Amino acid sequence: MSLPPPATTLPPGVVDVWLTDPDRVTADAALDLLAVLDPEERARNDRFRVEPARRQHLVAHALLRRTLTRYTGVDPAEWRFGANSYGRPHIEGPALEAPLHFNLSHTDGLVALAVAASPDVGVDVERESRQTDIDRLAPAVFSKTEREAFGRCPGQDRRALFFTFWTLKEAYIKARGMGLSLPLAGFSFDLGGPEPRIAFHAGCPDDPGRWRFWSDRVTPDHRLGLAAPSGTLATRRFRVDPDGGTTGA
Ligand SMILES: CC(C)(COP(=O)(O)OP(=O)(O)OC[C@H]1O[C@@H](n2cnc3c(N)ncnc32)[C@H](O)[C@@H]1OP(=O)(O)O)[C@@H](O)C(=O)NCCC(=O)NCCS
Repeated sequence: MSLPPPATTLPPGVVDVWLTDPDRVTADAALDLLAVLDPEERARNDRFRVEPARRQHLVAHALLRRTLTRYTGVDPAEWRFGANSYGRPHIEGPALEAPLHFNLSHTDGLVALAVAASPDVGVDVERESRQTDIDRLAPAVFSKTEREAFGRCPGQDRRALFFTFWTLKEAYIKARGMGLSLPLAGFSFDLGGPEPRIAFHAGCPDDPGRWRFWSDRVTPDHRLGLAAPSGTLATRRFRVDPDGGTTGA
C-alpha cells in the first residue's frame, strides 16, 4: 500500500488542478486503488469492457478520493458521493468544516481533477491528436463567432484552436452542472485578450462577470479548459503519480 497522501490546504480564492497519467499505473498499484473505491464504483469499474477506459475510471476515482483526503484528513474510503439530476457528482459526506467541491475529467493518457471552495468549477481535458473530424464537428458545437474564428485560422493551428474552444465550452458546461441541456451555440469564447472571455446569447442567459477561464496545454498532446468563479485569484497545478504521490507542481 502506498503512503497516505500529505496534507494540503486550499487558500482563499485558489482553485487546484490535479493531473495524472492513468497509463503509468502498475498492476500492484491498481489493486491498491481498487481497494479505495466503494462497491458501487467498483461495480461500475467492472462494467468497462475496454482497458484504457477502465483504467481511466479507476485512476480518476481513486485520485478523487485520495486528493479530497489531502484537504481534510477524511479516510479515502469514507467519502460518499451524490449526483444532481444531470449526473454531476458532489460530496455527500462526511460533513466538512469548510465547503469543498470538485470536477473530474478523463481522456486517453490524462486525468484532471479540479478542487475548489465553490461549486461553480468545471474542468475538461482532451487529447489533441485523437481521431476527430474537426471540420465536420465545428459547425455542430461552436457558436457563430467561434465558427468565424475557426474559419479564419490557418491550417496548422486549427486543431489547437478547435480543442481550445472545445475544452473551454465543456469546462463552462461542467461548471454549470447541467450537461448538454445548455445550448453549445448559446455562448461564445473570445481568445483575443490575456485570458479567455465568455459572451452569452439567446437561450443561455448568464452573466460573463461571474466567470474566469483558463486554457493551457498541460502535456505536449493534451489541452485543458478550466472554468471558475470570477473571484478566483489563482489556480495551482499538481502533477501526481496515479497512486497519489506528488511528482511536481
Ligand atoms: C458528461 C459531460 C458532463 C462531460 O462528458 P465528457 O467530456 O465526455 O467527459 P469528462 O471526462 O470531461 O467528464 C466526465 C466526468 O464529469 C463529471 N460529470 C458528469 N456529469 C456532469 C455534469 N452534468 N456536470 C459536471 N460534471 C459532470 C463526472 O465526474 C464524470 O466522470 P465519471 O463519470 O467518471 O464520474 C457532458 O458535458 C457531455 O456529455 N459532453 C459531451 C461532449 C460534447 O459534445 N461536448 C461538446 C463540447 S464543444
